[in-house]
Amino acid sequence: MSGRRNSIWIVDFILLSSPHIYYICGMSTEKAIVMSGIRPTGYLHLGNYFGAVRNYVKLQEEYTCYFMVADLHALTTHPDTKELKTNVHRVIAENIACGIDTDKAALYCQSHVRETSELYLYLNMLAYLGELEKTTTFKDKARMQPDNINAGLLTYPVLQAADIILHRAIYVPVGKDQEQHLEMARNFVKRFNHRYGEVFPEPIAYNFGDDLVKVPSLDGTGKMSKSENQLATLYLADDDELIRKKVMKAKTDGGPTENNSPKPDYIENIFQLMRLVSSDETISSFESAYNNCTIRYGDMKKQLAEDMVKFIAPIRERAASIQHDEAYLQKIMKQGAEKANESASKTMSLVREAMGLVY
Ligand code: TRP
Repeated sequence: MSGRRNSIWIVDFILLSSPHIYYICGMSTEKAIVMSGIRPTGYLHLGNYFGAVRNYVKLQEEYTCYFMVADLHALTTHPDTKELKTNVHRVIAENIACGIDTDKAALYCQSHVRETSELYLYLNMLAYLGELEKTTTFKDKARMQPDNINAGLLTYPVLQAADIILHRAIYVPVGKDQEQHLEMARNFVKRFNHRYGEVFPEPIAYNFGDDLVKVPSLDGTGKMSKSENQLATLYLADDDELIRKKVMKAKTDGGPTENNSPKPDYIENIFQLMRLVSSDETISSFESAYNNCTIRYGDMKKQLAEDMVKFIAPIRERAASIQHDEAYLQKIMKQGAEKANESASKTMSLVREAMGLVY
C-alpha cells in the first residue's frame, strides 16, 4: 500500500515538474492529464470556439484529454430535462465538428461515469458550508434563481472538483470565471491527501497565454457571450443569412477624417473579428484604407460577413449532420464513457483503499 502511494507521488512530482511527455524509469511513457467540462445549456458561439474549443483541439495532440459534457451540473440550474438529450447531443456534435478527435481525446457525458457521483459524495464531507456559501458563482446563481437555491447549486464546485480529480488531472483549461472553483478543488485535494494519504495531484488552470484571443461582440461592447445581446453574438449554428445580418448591424461611423488616426473601440473590434477569419491580404488592404481615410465600412462588413460564413458554415453543417446521426452519437458516447470509466475506476480503487472503505 505505502509503496503504491509512493509511486503515485513520484509520478505526480515528475508530472508537475515538466509539462509534456514523461519518461519514468526509461520504461513507461505517460502524458500529463487534461480535463475540462462543458455545460450543455447553450449553443456554442465564436467566443467559445476561439476561447476554448480551438485550444482543446491543440491540447488533444499533446496530452491525455478528458472532455466532458456536464449534464449533472446542468440540473442545478435547469431541473427540467425535456431538452437535455438534444442539448447533450448538440454539444457533442458541435465539439466534434470543431475538431475534437474522439480517437485522441475522451469525449463523454458526465452522468455516464457513475463514479463521479461517488467521489462527489466523499468530497462533500471535506467541503465546508462557509466556503461553499461564499463562492461567487453560488452567490450569483442564488440571486438569479431565488426560488431554487438547491444544495446542488451550493456544492457545484464539489462536483466540478470530482470531475477533475477523478482522472487525477493536472491541467484544466478554463476561463477566468472558473478560477475560484479550481482553487476550491485544490483545497479539497489538500484536505483529502492530508487526511487519507496522497492520492490526488493538485489541478491548476491551464493558461493559454498568447493563444487566448479576445472575441469582441458585434455591438461594440464587451465579448461575445451567450447571456448578452444575442444579435451581437455569432453562434456556430447560425445560418448564412443570420450571420450576414448580424455582421452588417455592427456599429460603425462616418470613417476616419485624418490619416493614421487611432481606431475607436467598435472599429478595432471589427478588425479584430477579421483577424480571426479573414486572409492577411484582406486585413492589410482594409488597414491601409483605414489609414488613408478611404475605408468604406459597408464593404468591410460585407467582406467580414462572407469570411464568417465561409468559416462557420462547414462547422454548422458538420455539427448538424452528426447531431442527426443517432447511431454515430451513441457510438461516440460509448467510446468516451469507456475511456473515462477506465480511468475513473482506477482512481476510485485508490480512493476507497486510502479511505479505508475496503472491508
Ligand atoms: N463549471 C464549468 C463551467 O461552467 C463546467 C465544468 C463542469 C467544468 N465540470 C468541469 C470545467 C470540470 C472544468 C472542469 O464552465
